[in-house]
Amino acid sequence: MEFPCGHDGDPVKGQVPDTLVIEALFSSIAGAYDRVNWLLSLGRYGRWLDEAARQACDGAELRLLDVGTGTGELALRLAGRAGPGSVVWGVDCSEPMISRARQKAGRRVRFARGYAESLPFPGGCFDCVCMSFVLRNLPRPQPALAEAARVTRAGGRLIVLELGKHPPPLLDRFIRAHLRHWAPLLGGEPYRWLDLSRQLFPPAYIQDRWLAGAGWVVEHRARLAWGLVELVRASLPGQVGEHHAGRRQEWREQH
Ligand SMILES: C[S@@+](CC[C@H](N)C(=O)[O-])C[C@H]1O[C@@H](n2cnc3c(N)ncnc32)[C@H](O)[C@@H]1O
Repeated sequence: MEFPCGHDGDPVKGQVPDTLVIEALFSSIAGAYDRVNWLLSLGRYGRWLDEAARQACDGAELRLLDVGTGTGELALRLAGRAGPGSVVWGVDCSEPMISRARQKAGRRVRFARGYAESLPFPGGCFDCVCMSFVLRNLPRPQPALAEAARVTRAGGRLIVLELGKHPPPLLDRFIRAHLRHWAPLLGGEPYRWLDLSRQLFPPAYIQDRWLAGAGWVVEHRARLAWGLVELVRASLPGQVGEHHAGRRQEWREQH
């Protein structure tokens, strides 16, 4: 798999490849995805997703959306945690990822193929949107964050989980070496993207600007595993999205 910025290219000059390249990349690793995640994170992956699900589920009868759901691990956790009457959707651009998610989740979660930048839902219909390890893979994260805001009700939340940019320097060097050398060994050539995408992803203050530009107010930023992973919880201010109220009510009654 070729990346426009080259495996060893200067990440400052590099850029996230087009969505279709990213989609093909994830489709090619769907079969091994869960196993490689577990190995690369030394078994900790599930705990980070558990924390994201805990932050997302704050009541009964929630409408929850997992964008870039992959093999559905977070969506499944949301379904396990959300109160009675809740509905969980998972969306991903990669068909092989979605079919693996469907096999695991059965009827507990509804899945749809779709793009983070143009979600197949009416405005304001979710209480919470989650994106775990997705933002770093988008050539243009801002439209996806704006789209997440569009489908979230006024007062709803966004949970973003991503590889951290600010671990202590020694740990950072270890993580880089780990991702650079072990990831391709364990998962094959497409896993070179993991280290590169982490380098290309901007620091927290830029991410916060993106979020604010899309209408989100950051409430909480937590460093998990000494900063290896960061979790952001943001909310959508009161009035935003109220004009979607009619369609939202209609949609919620149907689902
Ligand atoms: C690193 S995986 C994360 C999967 C899952 N959220 C997890 O935590 O394991 C990134 C996922 O985002 C999906 N993805 C990438 N770009 C996307 C886009 N523009 N729209 C929807 N999904 C996208 C990929 O297909 C892949 O399944």
